[in-house]
Amino acid sequence: MNTVLAGHGLVKKYGSTTALSGVDVEVGERDSLAIMGPSGSGKSTLLHTLAGIVRPDGGQVLLRGERIDKLGENRLSALRRKRFGFVFQFGQLLPELPAEENVALPLMLEGMPRGQAVERARRWFAPLGLDGLERRRPGQLSGGQAQRVAIARALAVEPDVVFADEPTGALDQTTSTEVIRLLTSVTREQGAALVMVTHDADVAAHCDRVLQVRDGRISNHTQYTVA
Ligand SMILES: Nc1ncnc2c1ncn2[C@@H]1O[C@H](COP(=O)(O)OP(=O)(O)OP(=O)(O)O)[C@@H](O)[C@H]1O
Ligand SMILES: [Mg+2]
Repeated sequence: MNTVLAGHGLVKKYGSTTALSGVDVEVGERDSLAIMGPSGSGKSTLLHTLAGIVRPDGGQVLLRGERIDKLGENRLSALRRKRFGFVFQFGQLLPELPAEENVALPLMLEGMPRGQAVERARRWFAPLGLDGLERRRPGQLSGGQAQRVAIARALAVEPDVVFADEPTGALDQTTSTEVIRLLTSVTREQGAALVMVTHDADVAAHCDRVLQVRDGRISNHTQYTVA
């Protein structure tokens, strides 16, 4: 496996709570990893630590072999914008902006002129089944459509890794399947890695591998397909 992102011996404590106690994890190019486990087991903490949102108290996070967990806040946030994409359960689109401008936003934050960013953003609409919805505002989209816009936004910067925390948590079963198929396939086509937290075993089954987290440790690791 061509490793893109790795966490080695990750430890995270909140006061007397140990959210992560020595977790090792790796994801490669075109690789998708689902993180499952009971509520409070440390799934989001693990995802946020790998994504440079939460700093570990022990261990290392490496992006293509380079440590990122000790970077200063400015460099780390620039790295997150450029190299990572994020999809959350809901509430991530700006309600006052049309869909295409929501997708263009991360590119504009990187300094791309508005016209060019919107043009680049529009290219994502057809592959995600969003043709014709470019000018709709988030409030005028269904939950599944809004999640697909969020996926387009995560991918627009052509990130190394896409992180998703319960990306289908607010969707019904049919819509959830559709969204997860697109998320995994488009991420793979881009050559990016996917790290996803989900409670839904059907959703996890669309990923190449599943990590079970329990009390801040990996309790099981299932490989569905041979990469
Ligand atoms: N910012 C924080 N401050 C204090 N404790 C925290 C913080 N974030 C997480 N925790 C604690 O760390 C543990 C792991 O939390 P985490 O959010 O990673 O769980 P989770 O597996 O994502 O749960 P869920 O499925 O409910 O989202 C929990 O005991 C939680 O209460
Ligand atoms: Mg969580």
